[in-house]
Amino acid sequence: MAAMSTDSTGTAARDGQPTTGPEDSAFVRACRRQAGPHTPVWFMRQAGRSLPEYREIRANVGMLESCRRPELVTEITLQPVRRHGVDAAILFSDIVVPVAAAGIELDIVPGTGPVVAQPIRDADDVERIRPIGRDDVPYVDEAVTTLVAELGDTPLIGFAGAPFTLASYLVEGGPSRTHARTKALMHGDPPLWHALCARLAEVTLAFLRVQVAAGVSAVQLFDSWAGALSEADYRRYVLPHSTTVLSGLADAGVPRIHFGVGTAELLGAMGEAGADVVGVDWRTPLDVATRRIGPDRAVQGNLDPAVLLAPWPVVEAEVRRVLEEGRAAPGHVFNLGHGVLPETDPDILTRVVALVHELTATGRS
Ligand code: CP3
Repeated sequence: MAAMSTDSTGTAARDGQPTTGPEDSAFVRACRRQAGPHTPVWFMRQAGRSLPEYREIRANVGMLESCRRPELVTEITLQPVRRHGVDAAILFSDIVVPVAAAGIELDIVPGTGPVVAQPIRDADDVERIRPIGRDDVPYVDEAVTTLVAELGDTPLIGFAGAPFTLASYLVEGGPSRTHARTKALMHGDPPLWHALCARLAEVTLAFLRVQVAAGVSAVQLFDSWAGALSEADYRRYVLPHSTTVLSGLADAGVPRIHFGVGTAELLGAMGEAGADVVGVDWRTPLDVATRRIGPDRAVQGNLDPAVLLAPWPVVEAEVRRVLEEGRAAPGHVFNLGHGVLPETDPDILTRVVALVHELTATGRS
């Protein structure tokens, strides 16, 4: 575990090294396509059920409730940083937190995911989604402020769900394999679809702005289910709204990451939405992804989370392959292709962090 302390100038120091803040961290530098001391690594869902300390702290607290308690958010966010020595923390929250703050009644059901009491069906339902500001999510403002102070040089990533993925939960009423109702609305009533996504983009942008104002060093926009769409439909029905969010943060001064699953055919279009970094799942090798995304963006990914359940020599070979393919990109943030699976041995995650650092160390400090 890396010790964090604060020196006399008020600048946080790690392991006694002189430091310059998260702006100059390996993670932020890679997002900006700048050289750094090593390839940075963090894991989507690094805080969560793979960690016994997480399971313990969450034992009697519901998911949404825990997202609204700043002291729990802070502790859970820090757990994987302490344990694994990852290069970034990600705020513990959920993509539906701002939607709940906007007035939509919902819950996160263990083993299922978000469940919405009254799914969105018409224009009146869209009006139920109210605009939000800092006072609607005071617990996020407080947790980010505390975390930024605690983390010192380690950057904190803020995040939100993208309009399409949020719309899918709101229209379906819960998780869906086919996104059939969502697609039926999109194709059957485009004005209503666009009104819904425009409202969600507004909520998402406001939610990310709260996190940026409180001090996050980067943001990630999760469009987890965008891979369900053809490129033509993505461009027509989704890209304008994700662009509203990402370009709306152009003046925020923090790198923007844009992530989805099953997006091989969409990588070029997703790259156009305005992010600095495009997340890639395990289906597309990073060198191929880089050709699709172009030279102006860094990539993030893309070890298959299931590989972490295999014996260590397999994990090591796959980490080496991902790093090798990532060399084709103008910047590479090592991650999984999707979130950590709950059954993952946390010691394997710690070993992956150490291996990535060791294999990519440049001697630059
Ligand atoms: O470490 C991190 O990545 C930060 C925490 C985080 C959570 N959710 C915590 C969480 C993040 C970034 C999310 C985003 C999120 N939530 C997404 C986008 C990322 C992705 O996985 O594609 C989506 C689609 C959701 C919706 C959601 N919330 C699902 C599908 C689930 C899983 C349901 C289940 O129980 O299997 C959740 C619940 C959730 N969000 C958990 C965590 C740690 C598990 C709840 C628990 O521990 O009880």
